[in-house]
Amino acid sequence: MTQLNVKDYRKPDYPIEDLLFERWSARAMSGEAIEPDQLMQAFEAARWAPSAANLQDRFFLYAYRDTPAFDHFFSLLDEGNQSWCHKASVLIVAFSDSIRASGKANKRHAFDTGMAVQNLLLQCSAMGLVGHPMAGFSYERAAIELNMPERFKPQCMIAIGKYGDPSELSEYNQGREKPSQRKPISEIIHEGAFEEEEK
Ligand SMILES: Cc1cc2nc3c(=O)[nH]c(=O)nc-3n(C[C@H](O)[C@H](O)[C@H](O)COP(=O)(O)O)c2cc1C
Repeated sequence: MTQLNVKDYRKPDYPIEDLLFERWSARAMSGEAIEPDQLMQAFEAARWAPSAANLQDRFFLYAYRDTPAFDHFFSLLDEGNQSWCHKASVLIVAFSDSIRASGKANKRHAFDTGMAVQNLLLQCSAMGLVGHPMAGFSYERAAIELNMPERFKPQCMIAIGKYGDPSELSEYNQGREKPSQRKPISEIIHEGAFEEEEK
């Protein structure tokens, strides 16, 4: 399947590395298997993400397509995500560890895990794979049914796969199968403190 050219859709206002804007959350996947090494490369990328005090407070459960574990992970997803995720090659559940080895609370666990997930997604994109994060799943069921230790918190699920044919998506998903845009940089930055009226 030929991937669309992200550069036709996204034009950064300032020059940045292509990898940063060429990553996007596609939904059309082929159902083909990815190489186990590619999955390990994605986790390796996650492994090198920074974390507060280098706590490395993230943990990933994964399941390959056509396994009972995949069917179980798939059942945790909401219907909207199931409508396209059935063509994923791998499903992942990302957790963060909310307790430090000392027993004290780790306040940065969600942030740290987000950074690791972004590394993983960028690596997928660099390898020409779809990597799509999802919050649309049952956090409660994931915690209970995946035997999650109490100190962990589910953060997101991720679908990984090979690009597929967008015409096989539902009409609704076909309509949104293109790289999205971003707010102008002026809306997300300000030099110095917030203005008084923004409080
Ligand atoms: C934490 C998080 C949760 C998300 N949950 C979903 C989801 O449940 N289903 C979905 O289709 N996309 C989900 N997305 C993808 C976002 O919609 C997507 O990242 C956003 O629209 C920007 O598009 P892009 O990733 O293609 O650049 C999620 C993204 C993040 C970061």
